[in-house]
Amino acid sequence: MCIMASIEVRQAEEGDLRAIIKLWQRNIKTINTATDIAKLYRYFGRYFLIAVDRECGAAVGFVAGAAKDGHAHISGIAVERRYRRQGVGSSLMKNLHDIFQKDGFKRITLEVRKSNRAAILFYESLGFKPCSVIWGYYADGEDAIVYEKEI
Ligand SMILES: CC(C)(COP(=O)(O)OP(=O)(O)OC[C@H]1O[C@@H](n2cnc3c(N)ncnc32)[C@H](O)[C@@H]1OP(=O)(O)O)[C@@H](O)C(=O)NCCC(=O)NCCS
Repeated sequence: MCIMASIEVRQAEEGDLRAIIKLWQRNIKTINTATDIAKLYRYFGRYFLIAVDRECGAAVGFVAGAAKDGHAHISGIAVERRYRRQGVGSSLMKNLHDIFQKDGFKRITLEVRKSNRAAILFYESLGFKPCSVIWGYYADGEDAIVYEKEI
């Protein structure tokens, strides 16, 4: 079965927030609480997209964008393990890229853990380039690589 054929990427709604929080906390090494994520959604809901498997109605991925220091930013992205490597993450990012473009942003930035090889390869596959390192950025002391891409 081609899973991508059954996946719909759409704007997240208030009612998707619980599913997004679950996906975020289950798939991303984070200290973000449900309250932190809900707050981000209140500010930047326009940049929250969700991937839903139409066959079963389950939320299987999300991307959370934001505006930060005048440019577009990726705050979080995750795809459920069994749906990975099938283009779901890329589809979420491409849809968000189009919204950022419509809103006039010129650049997208993000931070990724130095050890997160899958995410690094994912972002590089989408044309993101490493531009700096923030030492000890994460709560557990791990460094972040800052990536960016011109829109
Ligand atoms: C990063 C993540 C969102 C990618 O989602 P995905 O749906 O699997 O991504 P795609 O299928 O669109 O992958 C696109 C390309 O990225 C690269 N890529 C993605 N995952 C990879 C992996 N584990 N190893 C190597 N390359 C990878 C490949 O080039 C891939 O193309 P290919 O499958 O044709 O080789 C997913 O791995 C994930 O949810 N990880 C856990 C959460 C996380 O770390 N989020 C980022 C930090 S906030």
